Amino acid sequence: MDARIISDRVSLIGFVDWDTRLFDSLIPLPDGTSYNAYLIQGSEKTALIDTVEGEHYKELLRQLEDVKSLDYVVSLHSEQDHSGAIPRVLEKFPKAKVVTNPKGKKMLMDLLFVEESSFLTVEDGEVLSLGDCSLEFTYTPWVHWPETMCAYMAEEQILFSCDFFGSHIATSETYVTDACRVHEAAKRYFAEIMMPFCKTILKNLDKLAGKEIKLIAPSHGPVYDDPLFIIEAYRQWLEGPLENKVVLPFISMHGSTEAMTSHLSAALVDRGVMVERFNLAYTDIGKLAIALVDAATIVVGTPTVLTGPHPNVVYAAFLANALRPRAAFASVIGSYGWGGKAVETVAGLISNLKVEIVDPVLSVGAPQDEDFAALDALADAIAEKHKGLGLK
Ligand code: FEO
Repeated sequence: MDARIISDRVSLIGFVDWDTRLFDSLIPLPDGTSYNAYLIQGSEKTALIDTVEGEHYKELLRQLEDVKSLDYVVSLHSEQDHSGAIPRVLEKFPKAKVVTNPKGKKMLMDLLFVEESSFLTVEDGEVLSLGDCSLEFTYTPWVHWPETMCAYMAEEQILFSCDFFGSHIATSETYVTDACRVHEAAKRYFAEIMMPFCKTILKNLDKLAGKEIKLIAPSHGPVYDDPLFIIEAYRQWLEGPLENKVVLPFISMHGSTEAMTSHLSAALVDRGVMVERFNLAYTDIGKLAIALVDAATIVVGTPTVLTGPHPNVVYAAFLANALRPRAAFASVIGSYGWGGKAVETVAGLISNLKVEIVDPVLSVGAPQDEDFAALDALADAIAEKHKGLGLK
């Protein structure tokens, strides 16, 4: 794709990845993604903000064909989806300096063997002049790695945010045109990348709050020409009220856990509690992550395999523990044949979560009347606890 013009000085280049369906061999990409780089032509200096995943370097170099000299390659984040092509860019422009912070410098030396002499390191708040425009760097750790930072061009009120506010969407559109689609993709991105670091992300949001921002230019997905759209969404996901909702990831081998899941789902809905169910045999784990962002309760449904939970449940619980959603309550339901430690194992797997465990319901074999009654009692308890939080 050719360069997309943002302003007289700034253009969006990089690589639109329509085909990849798995990021970091972990994260599903139902809509592909993009690796955005931004070329800035100041009156005295030319800068490239971020690059692309290394395997796509040829496309980036093609877009840089007409650039006579490049002074700076700004690396806002060292992960290879943005830094991977830096060595190739330096081959073409050997005099260019790689602008990053000290942590980023070490990472780029470790990951990509960039030579120490190529770096220009910047401090938090430092301003780099390009002549008639400039870039002010703000350290924003943990969006997504500890070295991540943003660059702000005051002259055009553009915030270059890298992963911060990003969305995995392959699109030919420069700006957000389908707000619903971008909102879901950005929430998925937030859940998978940002949610484990909520407190730090909130501090970073506050740190940027004093800047007049007209455009947010992330390194994945479309540019935001209505910055409040994504800033307010982030505030909601970070510190907004939880929803009166139960997220119910489950798997069933012979139908018992599924019957219990269905009964509990209906009982919760009867009591005015929303339910989002995810069958872990085939669910998109990213959809589960989105649901975890604002759910008040997580109930895991699992049969007992040998002496513990089903392996797919172990995976989902491990992931939830790593993502650290803000849920207040958790429980376990399921069935077993001759005993086991499914509840204890699941509880141990989610030790990072600050949840109150509500009494689990386990049935011996297929669920019977007393098990369904226990599920009704669990639904009562969850509905009461949600009311206690003021959730409607
Ligand atoms: Fe888009 Fe953390 O890299």
